[in-house]
Amino acid sequence: MNHPLEQLRAEALREIEATGDAQLLEAARVKYLGRSGSISAWGEQMKTLDKEQRPIVGKLLNDVRNDVTAAIEERAGKFRSQKDSDALAKIDISLPGTAAERGSLHPLTQMLDRAIAIFRRMGFALADGPDIETEWHCFDALNTPPDHPARNEQDTFYLPDGRLLRTHTSTVQIRTMESALPPIRVIAPGASYRRDEVDATHSAQFHQIEGLYVDENVSVADLKGALEFFMHELFGADTAVRFRPHYFPFTEPSFEIDVRSKALKGGEQWIEVAGSGMVHPAVFEEVNRARGDDAYDPAKWTGFAFGLGMDRLAMILFDIPDIRLFAQNDLRFLRQFA
Ligand code: DAH
Repeated sequence: MNHPLEQLRAEALREIEATGDAQLLEAARVKYLGRSGSISAWGEQMKTLDKEQRPIVGKLLNDVRNDVTAAIEERAGKFRSQKDSDALAKIDISLPGTAAERGSLHPLTQMLDRAIAIFRRMGFALADGPDIETEWHCFDALNTPPDHPARNEQDTFYLPDGRLLRTHTSTVQIRTMESALPPIRVIAPGASYRRDEVDATHSAQFHQIEGLYVDENVSVADLKGALEFFMHELFGADTAVRFRPHYFPFTEPSFEIDVRSKALKGGEQWIEVAGSGMVHPAVFEEVNRARGDDAYDPAKWTGFAFGLGMDRLAMILFDIPDIRLFAQNDLRFLRQFA
């Protein structure tokens, strides 16, 4: 049988096979299968055929439509994979990739790691407390009542519920003694906050390392020995350390600690790096009151405490002129410590 539909199919298949790109293929699809395409036109003609012819031609029409559709799809698939391999051919897989940059530790973190390593060798464990504190932990428990002038010097940021951003890490002294029995030997590094005017040496957020040692017969000699050892390890053996009498409400006696070393930039003069002292008996008594026991009997236990200014130590150690650099995230600055 050589029905016109079969001729149409042969013609369509030939034409599809001969198309050179996706656009020409689409034109061929429209020509044969489009709404007014020649194969579609046969569907209309079906009505004019007599009853016996209709199923035969109907089946043939279906076959032709399927064959032509399949041929178009196959040809389209060829064009698609051709397009893909053309795109891939333009990629030079021998070119070096974009390397993931390796970060480095922030100078404050490096400073902290060094400090922790030194204190660990002296048997200090790490302790922790929240940045958002109660007034009691920050002041009252540290022998600093509401009318105490030290509260003005340490003005901070208050939350509506009365809590505050801690003005020093000394809060962790209290938190540690609330939850653990003596003897105690801890350091507590962390952020502290004050309503300071920001300049090269002041920041509203800075960092401290608190230390607390409570045992029987702890003396000022122990305090001096521990902190001199620390300063020598950190800044070098030829560093001079000075304990200058000072006042803190929660220690008695109290000292500020200065260092001086020719090896340090700007180290020809004394630089203040810490506050320290012997734990005030009133602090032990307030802790006992909160605990509801007599675990920190001031007749039995003594202790020393200190607060190191970590930003200050890092600025001396790495010769950094401005405290604001720590928080600015300037890669030109940070890369110098990679
Ligand atoms: N908390 C004090 C401050 O921020 C520093 C300090 C002084 C801490 C004496 C102490 C201490 O533990 O004994 O200025």
